[in-house]
Amino acid sequence: MSFAGKTVLVSGSTTGIGEACARVFAASGATVMVSGRNEPRGRAVVAGIVAAGGRAEFAGADLRVPGACESLVATTLERLGGLDVLVNNAGILYTADALQTSDEQWLETMAVNVNAVFYLSRAAVRHMRAAGGGAIVNIASEWGLNGEVNHVAYCASKGAVIQITRCMALDHARDGIRVNSVCPGEIHTRMVDDILAQQGGEPAERLRSLAAGIPMRRLAAPAEVAWCVHFLASGRASYVTGANLPVDGGNDATAGPYP
Ligand SMILES: NC(=O)c1ccc[n+]([C@@H]2O[C@H](COP(=O)([O-])OP(=O)(O)OC[C@H]3O[C@@H](n4cnc5c(N)ncnc54)[C@H](OP(=O)(O)O)[C@@H]3O)[C@@H](O)[C@H]2O)c1
Repeated sequence: MSFAGKTVLVSGSTTGIGEACARVFAASGATVMVSGRNEPRGRAVVAGIVAAGGRAEFAGADLRVPGACESLVATTLERLGGLDVLVNNAGILYTADALQTSDEQWLETMAVNVNAVFYLSRAAVRHMRAAGGGAIVNIASEWGLNGEVNHVAYCASKGAVIQITRCMALDHARDGIRVNSVCPGEIHTRMVDDILAQQGGEPAERLRSLAAGIPMRRLAAPAEVAWCVHFLASGRASYVTGANLPVDGGNDATAGPYP
């Protein structure tokens, strides 16, 4: 499905799933705003897209900073001339139970994973409603659907993303704005490598044992999530709104450990 002439903002697209989203939208003809705190990495993503014949720009943003989300949307509108698709991808994760979670970690998780999704979406909807429509895709998590040991802040934040998705889909269905989420399972990015590193032991062995518990017996590549985001943002999903699509190799289909 072509996104020629469309403009797409992907939060947290300096690496991982966000970078893959930026690449697939650009490969489909969209002009993409790449964003995040790490400017060298963001500029490298843009350079890769441009080298492949696509169009992209970089706008730095630390989404924890008050006003940063509204500024990022304003910058995108100013520099790209519109905003057809918003992908709320930026996210952080602390591994800790409630007693180990500091106030700072709780608040930072909510700031990046929840508040930024709301502020970016609200700013995008202001524009999209006036422009006659648009699409928002939120990157939630299978851990927003189910609980997970030692991840109370992260799971709470991703549950909130799913509810933001449902409520904004209902509120803006008649504005021509579709709002959906994907719930990734185990995707091989820096985030998963960090979790495995905290667990200690041989990283390759940890990866193997993680993969062994997934029905499809493997982790996903970031692009496998990005293509689902691409579908939900596209006209092919024209009657889909308020949905959460698991992209998890079958994890959500099981009630317990997969044999
Ligand atoms: N990997 C998985 O298995 C998995 C599973 C379920 C859900 N997810 C979700 O998928 C999304 C992407 O995760 P990933 O695995 O690709 O993680 P990642 O490789 O760690 O990438 C996270 C992205 O978020 C950005 N980010 C973090 N804090 C930010 C801040 N304060 N301001 C602006 N940008 C910020 C980072 O950019 P900078 O460092 O440049 O700021 C980076 O581009 C997250 O929402 C995550 O919760 C991942």
